[in-house]
Parts: sequence; structure tokens; C-alpha cells
Amino acid sequence: MQIARPRGTRDILPEEALRWRQIEDLIHHLCRLYGYGEIRTPVFEATELFLRGVGEATDIVEKEMYTFQSKGQRGRSLTLRPEGTAPVARAYLENNLHARPQPVKLYYFGPMFRYDRPQAGRYRQFHQFGAEVLGTDHPAADAEVIALAMAFFKALGLDGLQLQLNSIGCPLCRPVMREKLVEYFSVRVAECCPDCRQRFSRNPLRLLDCKEKVCREVGSQAPNPVDCLCPGCGEHFRQVRRYLDLMRLPYTLNPRLVRGLDYYTKTAFEIIVPGAGAQDAVGGGGRYDGLMQAIGGRAVPGVGFALGLERTLRLMEKQSASPEVPGPTVFVASAGETQDVVTKLVGDLRAAGLAADRDYMGRGLRAQMRYAQKLKAAYVLLAGEEELQRGRVILRDMQTGEQKEIRLEDAVNVLRAVAGK
Ligand code: HAM
Repeated sequence: MQIARPRGTRDILPEEALRWRQIEDLIHHLCRLYGYGEIRTPVFEATELFLRGVGEATDIVEKEMYTFQSKGQRGRSLTLRPEGTAPVARAYLENNLHARPQPVKLYYFGPMFRYDRPQAGRYRQFHQFGAEVLGTDHPAADAEVIALAMAFFKALGLDGLQLQLNSIGCPLCRPVMREKLVEYFSVRVAECCPDCRQRFSRNPLRLLDCKEKVCREVGSQAPNPVDCLCPGCGEHFRQVRRYLDLMRLPYTLNPRLVRGLDYYTKTAFEIIVPGAGAQDAVGGGGRYDGLMQAIGGRAVPGVGFALGLERTLRLMEKQSASPEVPGPTVFVASAGETQDVVTKLVGDLRAAGLAADRDYMGRGLRAQMRYAQKLKAAYVLLAGEEELQRGRVILRDMQTGEQKEIRLEDAVNVLRAVAGK
């Protein structure tokens, strides 16, 4: 019998792998712009990390973890990571990252594992791009991670995504929320789905975001968590919204947004494709000021997100979206016997940190300009024989079409200045 791949997993073949590579390149590029450093943590961790981090009463821990006994006599219980935030928090504590200047801004990309019923957009091995800001509770950090997530989707050319936002408070306001929700749901919980009947005593907040129709109906008049926020959380939420407004990032308030992991405090958000059905979330995240303590560390606040890349790719296919591939900053075009100058100039530009390219095919000047346009070069440096004799080159801004002569010896500095490097 021929052996098939495990259910809920995928093979990525060369054509699709190219797309993945483009996306990965974009992730590294954007995270550099936003000042995040990459972190790579193990694919498996001590099971305890997720029990305490993600929370014992969550779907992930109750039903979805790939847990196994390690080898050896006292083999520890290990789990394939179902998500990346608890591992990043563990790594922060274990590697004493609190001794570094705060906050520590990290990002990751890699496979996650959840045992769930496979369906379109839901896999047992899937990939996440995540980012976490650790060591600050400043509301501008919440807005920054949201901005990074939205910038990622925008750069991929995706349209129509909706940012949904909520605040679910802190240990100070949670008991008030809980009490109000228990009071509201206790009369009708018997009508809810079996999962919600279980959740009711453990985490009544979760009843708010159940996708089952009956539960939605039962919860339609439920108290709004935002109305129960303590003054500190209320102010934090106002500030997050103010920063989002400042950055012109539109959002929809969704008082039903609770998220399925227990570590969240204050800000919770999801990025969804309206009308896409059950697997409509392409990403989600929020603040988790109690996570580090829950896994045995000191109190360190944090905020972050994770985006599902299979869902992102599916959406790109659906929308025939293609990522903006940044072209070289500068293309050096030349005419006549100028090869030595071109070779040296391109080398100098690259050494100065500018993406530079040139022609190798003996194209004429016009064809080189067309080629530069195809490559999406931002600037062209035109090294003509006649100009070079005067120690000059022409700098052309490809967007505006403006041209000016500059001194060859100034070329690298001028480009550094215009390209903002
Ligand atoms: P999450 O909402 O569980 O959050 O997952 C984030 C994203 O991963 C989802 O929005 C979805 O796109 C994708 N995803 C989740 N499960 C699957 C699956 N079975 N198949 C395909 N894609 C899936 C977290 O994981 C948190 N760690 C996010 C976070 C980071 N919060 C703070 N920092």
C-alpha cells in the first residue's frame, strides 16, 4: 500500500514554495523596518508550558495538542508547539532577555501543530508569522504590533480585511465581568452547545465568542466586557484606539471578541475576512501581561500577534493578489566603454547598503531604461561616455522622471540621501 501524508498536512511543491519564499522575504524585510529581531524556538516544548501558558480549559490544551512521552526512563511529557507566544515568553525568561534594554521585540516564522478536524483553511500542521513586544505595557506597543500585521497584509496586496478590536480587562476587572456573565447566562446555559455548557463554569467569557448559532442567539443580549473595565484598562483601551486612529488604521469594535487562549489581558484583536465563514481569521493577537508569571517567571507585560500563512496564501489566490516585490533602489545604466566604471559604481553602492543592479546583456540605453523599469528600480544612474569624461553621471528619479547631473564621486552619497539610507 502506498503511504500517504498524515491528514491535515500539506506538501509545498516548487511553484508554491516560491510564493512562500516571497512571503518569508517580506516578513524579514518588514520586521527589520519595525525593529524586530528574529527568534527561533524548538518545535517541541515541555507540555507544562502550554498547560500553564495557554490555559488548561482551552480547546488547544483540552483537545488539540500533540503530546508524547520523551524517551528514557523518566521521559518528560513533551508537546509539539500549538502556538508561539508561550515558547517566546519561556525563551525570554530562560535567556534573561529582561537584562537587555526593554522592550525586547521579537518575531518568528514556523510550523505549529494542532489536532483539529481538518477542513478548508484548517490544518494540523500550519505556519504562523508572529511578533511579540515584551517588557512594556505602553498602549502604543499594542498599536505597533497591529500596524505591523496590517502592513504585512497590505504589502501582499490583500484587500477587504477587517481589524476587530476589543478589551477583555485584567485580573482586577475580570471578576466583575465574570459575575455579570454568569448572572446573564445561568438562566439559559442549558440551551447552549455542549462545549459552552462546559465552558460556563470555567470561563464564561468564552461563551461570548462561540460560533454556534444557538449560543450566538442565547448570548445576543449578554453584558459587554468593555462596560466592566476598571479605570486603568479603560484608559489603556482608549489610548490603543487613539494610536490606531493616529496611524489611520481603521478597526471595528467587537465586544464579543474573546479569543481562545487564556493568557490575554486588555487588548484582544483579530484580523478577519468578512463573510469567509468559520475559518475567517487570518490572524489574531493581543496583550498578555500575566503570561510570564503563569509560566513561573517574573511579571513582564507583553503584546503580539500571529498570522496564519496557509489562510493568507489561500486569500491571495482568491484575490489574485501579488506581493509588492521591491525593486533595486538604483539601476546603473551605461552607454559606450563604461564597463569598469559601472562595475565599480554598482559595487560601491551595494557596499553602502543600497540595492543596486546593472545590465549584463549588452542592451542599448533605451532597452536598459525599459529593463530598469521592469525591475521597478527607484532611481537610475546613467553613466554615459560623454558625462563620464566630465566626471559626471545623470541621476533619474523613475517615479517623477526628473533628471539631474551629479558628480560621479558624489553618486553614492547622493543616492544614500535620496533613498533615505
Ligand atoms: P491564534 O488565534 O490561535 O493565536 O492563531 C493565530 C492564527 O493562526 C489564526 O488567526 C489562524 O490564521 C492561524 N491558525 C490557527 N489554527 C490554525 C489551523 N489549525 N490551521 C491553519 N491556520 C491556523 C495564536 O496562536 C496566538 N499565539 C497569537 C498571539 C501572539 N497572541 C499574542 N501573541
